[in-house]
Amino acid sequence: MHIHSNDPHSFYQAGQPKIELISWVVTPDFSEKRLSCMARIFFDRPGNTALDTRDLRILKVTDTDLVGIPFELGSPDPLLGSRLSFDVPEKRVVEIRYETSPDAHGIQWMSSELAGGKPFVYTQGEAINARTYIPCQDTPSVKFKFGATLVVPTDLRGLIAASEHVGRTQTESCAVEEWNMPFPITSYLIAFAVGDLVSEELSDRSRVWAQPHMLEKAANEFRDIPKLMAAGERLFGEYPFGRYDVLVMPDAFPYGGMENPCLSFLTPALVAGDGSGISTVAHELAHSWTGNLVTNANWDSFWLNEGWTVWAEDRIVEEVYGADVAMLGRKLLELEFQDDLRHFEKAGEWRFTALCPDTAGIDPDDVFSRVPYFKGAQLLTLLEQTVGRERFDAFALRYIDAFKYQSIDTETFLDFLQTELGQEVFDQVRVEEWVYGPGYPKNAPEIRSSLIGPVEELARKGEVPPPNVDWIMPQWQLYLELLPRDLSLDFIDRLEGSFRLSTEENTEVRWSFLVLATKTGYLPVFSEVERFLLAKGRMKYLKPLYAALGETPEGRAYAEIIFANARHSYHPVAVRAVENALAA
Ligand code: BES
Ligand code: ZN
Repeated sequence: MHIHSNDPHSFYQAGQPKIELISWVVTPDFSEKRLSCMARIFFDRPGNTALDTRDLRILKVTDTDLVGIPFELGSPDPLLGSRLSFDVPEKRVVEIRYETSPDAHGIQWMSSELAGGKPFVYTQGEAINARTYIPCQDTPSVKFKFGATLVVPTDLRGLIAASEHVGRTQTESCAVEEWNMPFPITSYLIAFAVGDLVSEELSDRSRVWAQPHMLEKAANEFRDIPKLMAAGERLFGEYPFGRYDVLVMPDAFPYGGMENPCLSFLTPALVAGDGSGISTVAHELAHSWTGNLVTNANWDSFWLNEGWTVWAEDRIVEEVYGADVAMLGRKLLELEFQDDLRHFEKAGEWRFTALCPDTAGIDPDDVFSRVPYFKGAQLLTLLEQTVGRERFDAFALRYIDAFKYQSIDTETFLDFLQTELGQEVFDQVRVEEWVYGPGYPKNAPEIRSSLIGPVEELARKGEVPPPNVDWIMPQWQLYLELLPRDLSLDFIDRLEGSFRLSTEENTEVRWSFLVLATKTGYLPVFSEVERFLLAKGRMKYLKPLYAALGETPEGRAYAEIIFANARHSYHPVAVRAVENALAA
């Protein structure tokens, strides 16, 4: 299948010579916060082509005999960066030597102090930041194979999100780690991490990587990964990428998880000791089929990645932990989605509540929301309920098989859907309204779980739970999110008195409580809020908590002081998100 339309977030134009393979050599310099790199790029044919770059210092563009190739580096566009264009020679191979900028948006450098041990550096490509560490066709419409060599200090490990660790060789002064990825991937999935990392095996194709102090707890928390993989394979076909490992990141990691191929990056908050983090692992694992194997061809079609993946995550969770747990998760996602709807309405940006919005000219990170996740998953669940589970599961398998190793856009998916499930279903469900219309359609499926009712009732009545309540952590989260917003200080005080939620070990629950207490103006938690904001970097936590502080003038001044102290420890993308949250 050929994609003819252009991706508005890339300088690459459909029809130009395409990347087939990148062989990458990377040497991090921690003191200068710079990567020194060589990218050897193999194209499918000779001719004029374009790569995306941003804040890169291009030193040399040559053929494999080191003969210079004339190139043009365009002036920087604030959103897209600079176009790097040249003629691919007859031999189809181009070598680029370059250095990254200390401020690259896709790289986070952490000192020993920030990483809690030895220094740490890693990349985050999605959505359009791979170009800040590797010159490439930074569009999810292009797939290529990949190999990489990391040159790291001898006391650190260098991990690449790839299936084969070719080997590690060591000299007095450095270690060289070589990796190979024989399956085609897109640029936003290129990722590495370098740090003090150790691992424990979960099965012959899965292991957990973490900093030493986290390893035992993490391996225990994620011990069900082999079961999740087996469930995924029953539902969606053989696991497509050989290995599936996970890496527990430092606290500054700005996401809950990132589905880097063969090596999902996870926030350490998932290692809660209570089993609540595993559904996020199911999510990142599910991306192996929906996202990494079948990929959105542009960022308007992001819902094909995330909507399908939430649906697939919940099916895996249902297989392993039951439907009640899965649908409790869906309910929590709905509450985040409802917040996003309110936000977009207030900001006059209602158009971003469409599943497939027009994001040309906009940084996809700036309009990140739970719309593609929740609304996308609900559409798929509605289709599942309409045609029956058996027919829908068969459809999901055919979808994955039909588009594996390809990138597709929304229109291609809708055509496939119409052909496979029929015009009648398509019209009955009102798929077009779901996909292109804003807001939340009236025919959305109801979310049912026996774990929701009792929580809802107490929350609606605004009652403090009895001391012997035996809720699982996501039920606590639901309770806190469902409580009326005009609570009294006395209520918060009683809740805190009974359950000490401000120091609860589960990060999600502690965070929900801190947001609620801050909005109520409950001063005793402010020092916990400060501690939280100084320690954590996940954007899902930072944005609402800073916004909650920003609601009062005193809180706002406090937020600015905390941000000034914390910003050096946040990922560049998170710094931008907090700036936006405080400006709103
Ligand atoms: N692919 C996303 C993370 C992402 C999205 C990074 C857009 C950069 C740009 C990942 O799979 C994800 O969805 N993470 C969620 C997990 C949750 C839905 C279980 C997150 O981080 O909140
Ligand atoms: Zn996802």
